[in-house]
Amino acid sequence: MYSTDFAYVHDAGFGDFAKRTAPELIRLLRAHGIKDGRIVEIGTGSGILARRLIDAGYDVIGIDRSRDMIRLARAKAPDATFRIGSLTRAKIPRCDAAIAIGEVVSYVSASPRPFFTRVHDALEPGGLFIFDFMESAKGRTYAGKSFGGRDWELIVRAEVDAAGRTLTRRMTLLRNVGGKYRRSRETHRVTIRSRHEVKAALEAAGFSVAMSRAYGRYRLLRGDVAVVARKTIE
Ligand SMILES: C[S@@+](CC[C@H](N)C(=O)[O-])C[C@H]1O[C@@H](n2cnc3c(N)ncnc32)[C@H](O)[C@@H]1O
Repeated sequence: MYSTDFAYVHDAGFGDFAKRTAPELIRLLRAHGIKDGRIVEIGTGSGILARRLIDAGYDVIGIDRSRDMIRLARAKAPDATFRIGSLTRAKIPRCDAAIAIGEVVSYVSASPRPFFTRVHDALEPGGLFIFDFMESAKGRTYAGKSFGGRDWELIVRAEVDAAGRTLTRRMTLLRNVGGKYRRSRETHRVTIRSRHEVKAALEAAGFSVAMSRAYGRYRLLRGDVAVVARKTIE
C-alpha cells in the first residue's frame, strides 16, 4: 500500500488536507498548553504535517508503514526522525502528543483498542491524542471517479460492503515517468466504526474524549470524525 507512484501522487495531488489542517492542529496543541516537546505522528505519509510541526518548534517522530512515504517524508522534513512501522506493532516513543490524521486508524481492521492503550502509555500526563476516523461511507462511494495532475491520472472506484463496515477503494494509477506512462494498481480498505465504538475504546484505554466534524475551522470530509483525546493528569 502506498507504493512508489501512489506515495508520489498522495504528496503531489492529495496533500491539501495535511497542509490545511496543520495550522489548526498547531493551534489546538498550543491551546492545550503543548507549545513545544515531542510529537509522534502515526501514518505520517509524505511528511507534510511533520514539516510544519518542526517549523513550529516541535520535535517530531513520524511512523508510517509505507517505505515510499517515509522516503518522501525524510526529504521533506530532514529535521524529523522517521521510522517504517505499522501502528499495530510499532513502539510509540514517549511524547507530549500523538497525531494520526487522514483516516490512518481506519486503515486497520483489527480492534484499535490495543493501539489506543499503547498511545496512552506513551503520552505524558495531560498529553493529547488527535486523529480522525471514518464513521460512515454515505456520499463516499462512486462507480468511477478520476483525478489528474501534471504527470499522473488516477481512477478510483469506491464501494461499501453490505454490512456498511468496509469501504473499498480500487485504484488504477498512470504516472508519466521519462515520457512513458507507468501503470500501477492498489486496493485500500477502510474500516467504518461508530463514534460510540471508538469513544468506548478510548475511554477504556484511559482517555477523556471530545469528537467533532472538524479540526478547528477545517471541516472534514463527509463521514469523517475528528477526535481530541486527553490523557488525564493523575
Ligand atoms: C490517507 S494517507 C494520510 C497521510 C498523511 N497523514 C496525510 O494526511 O497526508 C494514510 C497513511 O496511513 C499510512 N498507514 C496505513 N496503515 C498504516 C498502519 N497500519 N500503520 C502505519 N501507517 C499506516 C499509509 O501508508 C499512509 O501514509
